Amino acid sequence: MPLLGVNIDHVATLRQARGGKEPDLVQAARIVEQTGAGSIVVHLREDRRHVNEKDVRSLKKMVFTKLNLEMSIAPEIVDLAIQIKPDQATLVPEKRQELTTEGGLDLVSAEQEIKRVVLKLKNEGIRVSLFIDPVNIQVEASKSVGADLIELHTGNFANAADQATQNHQLTDLIKAKDLAVEKKLIVAAGHGLNYQNVKRITEINGIEELNIGHSIISRAVFVGLDRAVREMLELI
Ligand code: PXP
Repeated sequence: MPLLGVNIDHVATLRQARGGKEPDLVQAARIVEQTGAGSIVVHLREDRRHVNEKDVRSLKKMVFTKLNLEMSIAPEIVDLAIQIKPDQATLVPEKRQELTTEGGLDLVSAEQEIKRVVLKLKNEGIRVSLFIDPVNIQVEASKSVGADLIELHTGNFANAADQATQNHQLTDLIKAKDLAVEKKLIVAAGHGLNYQNVKRITEINGIEELNIGHSIISRAVFVGLDRAVREMLELI
């Protein structure tokens, strides 16, 4: 069974809608962990549209499973990560205008820059994951820049318009996973996964971690956070 990482960014999105203290992000993390998830994931975006630096510091103090910080390679964010020291950093591309992360990192065009950041974080004892598209060249580059793990972008699989496209995307994910395992990289996957589509991903042997946010927080609005997490845990 893969470990479930729950991305709680959208608890902060709801809080920011009024700019106050509710709903409390730390309380959300506590419920998620008590329900049996294996990690808490937050994305400290450069524009701080949901999670802020204080949140990450508070989470660092209380998370007892694993705190996985999604982040860009912007120097300001890298410095914060080094100060706060999450258990894991997941490097993602970030564009100001996007609603959510739109694709994997392009390690081919920014290999040296990313390599420097990976090394810097690893020297501080932070495990480093790279969020990449399921493409061989990106898996190979992840290994060569020194990542500990990769997170395969499942967005194209999740957004596939028909079964044939979804099958094709699944094949790409399996091939990328096989290559990563051969290269001794730990493999995670995430983005766009929900209660309907997650099963096909769990059938792929060798994916050790699934990171899921929007669908769980959306379901939590109707059934509560603990039940929403429990239902996902039952599926995976
Ligand atoms: N993994 C990464 C790297 C992400 O950027 C996100 C979105 O923040 C997720 C997983 C979770 O995606 P979703 O909210 O679509 O489940």
